[in-house]
Amino acid sequence: RTVAVLAGGLSHERDVSLRSGRRLSAVLRDEGFHVEEWDTDGELITRLRTERPSAVVIALHGGEGENGSVQSILEMLDIPFVGTSAHACRRAWDKPIAKAELLEAGHTTPEWVVLPHSTFRELGAQAVLDAMVARIGLPLILKPDQGGSALGAEVVTDATELPTAMVGCFAYGETVLAEQYISGTEVAVTVIELNGEPTALPAVEIVPGDGIYDYTARYTAGLTDFFTPARLSDDSARAVSELAVAAHKLLGLRDISRTDAVVAEDGTVQFLEVNISPGLTETSTVPMAVEASGKSIGTIYSDLIDQAIS
Ligand code: DAL
Ligand code: MG
Repeated sequence: RTVAVLAGGLSHERDVSLRSGRRLSAVLRDEGFHVEEWDTDGELITRLRTERPSAVVIALHGGEGENGSVQSILEMLDIPFVGTSAHACRRAWDKPIAKAELLEAGHTTPEWVVLPHSTFRELGAQAVLDAMVARIGLPLILKPDQGGSALGAEVVTDATELPTAMVGCFAYGETVLAEQYISGTEVAVTVIELNGEPTALPAVEIVPGDGIYDYTARYTAGLTDFFTPARLSDDSARAVSELAVAAHKLLGLRDISRTDAVVAEDGTVQFLEVNISPGLTETSTVPMAVEASGKSIGTIYSDLIDQAIS
């Protein structure tokens, strides 16, 4: 059985994806699969058509690997793959859509405003920024509405920092999500779905050395402390697990996902986002959660591959 691991790609998270792909390929080889590592470029469709792997595992992050594009190709070619369908990716990958969906279902998520670049041209930059601060307050966090690994994200505590932070964020996309910044206990909760039953693994608590979990804090060993399971009360631990399973189901995710959330100082659990193709690097939280659950990345992905093929 040949499994193609798709990594690399064209997004800003290319380097992270190459690291995830390398790790995944190694553990799948240990599980006895014949693994091919494919960098994802314009040859992808031809290669899939001619080589027709038994299954594909998407270790791409960002862009076409999470917005449903690659998933659409695989669905059209009828090649089994691990992970979420194209249709569900398109929705879950869009942070404001995911937040709205969770809010609608009765969960809490920080107050937010969506700012397409055109709003600034139409209304004037200062008017837009003033209205935004009036609505969600400070501190706030700017994020590209579609993106990952905190690229382009910036916490703003003083309104005078906003114009520069906005420009930085727009460098990553056409639309910015401005969200109330909630301090508290930051957690990442992995969900594994086998036999139609999504189950949360122990939550991983994230404590970045300088307080902000940015790209450098994510991918430089030693800059962030992780606690697995998270240091939460039993009630909060149960609540974050339930949120992750609910998000997985509500957004129609499949096989594996990771929900990021904050347990605020007042105890409320605030949904931030879901990750359709969570990182598997040495500093990523999914492998930590898997290890804490007593399983291994190899056995979990091997089961997910079997499930995709059957
Ligand atoms: N977007 C990165 C890879 C993650 O969610 O882990
Ligand atoms: Mg993310």
